[in-house]
Amino acid sequence: MNLMKDYYDCFVKMLTFIEEYRWLVDFAVTDILVTDVFSKIPSDWLQLFKKMTFEDATVLANCSIKPEWPESLVEFFKQCNSLSIESLISLFDNKWSKYKIDKELCRGLSPKKQCEVESLAGLVDLVCKQSGSSGVIDVGSGLGYVDRLLAVKGYSVLGIESNINLVEKARNQVDKLSSNLSNKITFHPLKLCEESTVSLIKIAQSFAEKNNLRNGLCVVGLHTCGDLTSSALKTFLKTPLISSTVLMPCCYHKMSLLDYKTNTTMLCNEDVVYSNFKNFPLSKMLSRLLCKPEHKEIFFRPFLRLASQESNARWKCWSKCDHENNAFKVMSRAVLQLYIGKEGLQLKKRHRRGVNKNSCVNFTSFVKDVMERFDFIDSSSNQVIDRNNATYKNISDNLKPLWNEYKDSLLLIEIVLILQMSMQSLVEAFVLLDVLSFLKENNVENLQVAKLVDNKISPRYIALIASKVRL
Ligand SMILES: C[S@@+](CC[C@H](N)C(=O)[O-])C[C@H]1O[C@@H](n2cnc3c(N)ncnc32)[C@H](O)[C@@H]1O
Repeated sequence: MNLMKDYYDCFVKMLTFIEEYRWLVDFAVTDILVTDVFSKIPSDWLQLFKKMTFEDATVLANCSIKPEWPESLVEFFKQCNSLSIESLISLFDNKWSKYKIDKELCRGLSPKKQCEVESLAGLVDLVCKQSGSSGVIDVGSGLGYVDRLLAVKGYSVLGIESNINLVEKARNQVDKLSSNLSNKITFHPLKLCEESTVSLIKIAQSFAEKNNLRNGLCVVGLHTCGDLTSSALKTFLKTPLISSTVLMPCCYHKMSLLDYKTNTTMLCNEDVVYSNFKNFPLSKMLSRLLCKPEHKEIFFRPFLRLASQESNARWKCWSKCDHENNAFKVMSRAVLQLYIGKEGLQLKKRHRRGVNKNSCVNFTSFVKDVMERFDFIDSSSNQVIDRNNATYKNISDNLKPLWNEYKDSLLLIEIVLILQMSMQSLVEAFVLLDVLSFLKENNVENLQVAKLVDNKISPRYIALIASKVRL
C-alpha cells in the first residue's frame, strides 16, 4: 500500500469538502448569529429544515439519511462519514489490548479516566514489549495515573509535567501507595518545547543510565494538549534514545499562534503557506496544499476547536429534550454576542465560572445571570461600564427584543450545530492526518492509528503509535 499517496488523496478530498462547507466551520459558536450563518444554508436544505421538528433533529443528528432529503444534503452526510476518523483508522491494521486497573491505583478516577488510563497503559505495554523497551517517558504526566499502572507492570517511568503543583501532588500520591512504586517512577517538572528539548534529552539519558535501560525508551502521553503533541513528536524524532511513541492528542485549538510578523508568510519552498499556528500544519504535504490565501481564514481556532469537541457518537444519543436545551443555551449566548458586538461592548467575567447553565431556564434568568457574573466593557475606552450608568441599566431591556427576533429560530440553530458536529470527525481526521504525514516525511515507517476507547465514553479516543523499530 502506498501510504503517502493515500494520505495525499485523503487530504485533497478533505480540503475540497472543507472548502465547500467552510461556512459551517469558520466561526466560533458564540458568533453563530454574528456571522449570519442562516443566510449561507443552501435554499433546498432550508426548505427541508423549515418543515422539521426537534424530533426530526434527533434523526438528523443520527445521520439517518432519508430519501426525500435534497441530494446535496445526502452527499454531505455521506462525505462526513467516508472522510471520518474511522476511515483513517481503516488505513491501518489495528492491534491493541488493555488490562484491568488495580483498585488502589485508580482511587479517585472517574470511570471515563479509568477507561482511558487502563487502555493506554495496555497499549503502551504492548508496544514496549514489541520494541523491547523497559523505560517510558510520560509527557504531560499530570497526576501520573498511567505511570503508576506502567510501574506496576515493571516499567521504569519518567513523568514530565510543566505544572509544578501537579508534579508535587503526583509524587505525594505515589509515596502514599502501599505498593512501593516510588523507586520505579520519577516526576520531573519541565515544560516540553523546542527550547527545552536539549534538557529533556539530558534528563532522559540520566534516567536511562540510572535505571539501566539499554533498549530504547517509549514516549507516551494521555491527552497531550495543544503544542505538547508536536513537541513530543519532535523529541521522539530528534532523540536516538527514544525508539517509539504512543500519544493520544487533544485540545488542538490550544496550539500557539504564530507571532504577528510571521503570521502569513511561513515559507515552504517557493510558496507561501497561510497558517496561523506554529505547529499546524506540521507536514510539508499539507503545507503545500494550503498555499492559498483563502485558507488562512479557515484554519483558525474555531476549526481546531471543532476538531477538539466531543465526537458525534455522543450527540447521536441525545434526546429531543437534550437538543432543545442545547439550542437554548447556544441561542441565548449568541443573542448576547450579537448585542455586545452591535453596541461596541465586550464581556469580562467577574467569577471564575461564566453563566450558570443550570439556573438558566429561560432568557430572563439567563440575562439576570449574565448581569451578575459579567462586567461590560466599553470597547473604545476599555473601561468597565458603571453599574449605575444608564447604558448598563438598558442592557437587559435591550436584549429582550433581540431575543424575540431570534427565538423562533431555535430549531434552525440546532440544525446548524448538528451539521457542524457531523463534520467533527472529518476535521479531527484532517488534523491527525497532518501528524501522520509529518512522521512519514521524517522516515518513520512504523505507524499505527488505534481506536483505544469507546467514543461514547471518551471524546478523544485515538492513539497514534510511531516506532523507529519494526513492531
Ligand atoms: C490534559 S492534561 C493530561 C494529564 C495526564 N496525562 C492525564 O491524562 O491525567 C495535560 C497535561 O499536560 C501538561 N502539559 C501541557 N503542556 C505541557 C508541556 N509543554 N510540557 C509538559 N507538560 C505539559 C499540563 O499541565 C497537563 O497536566
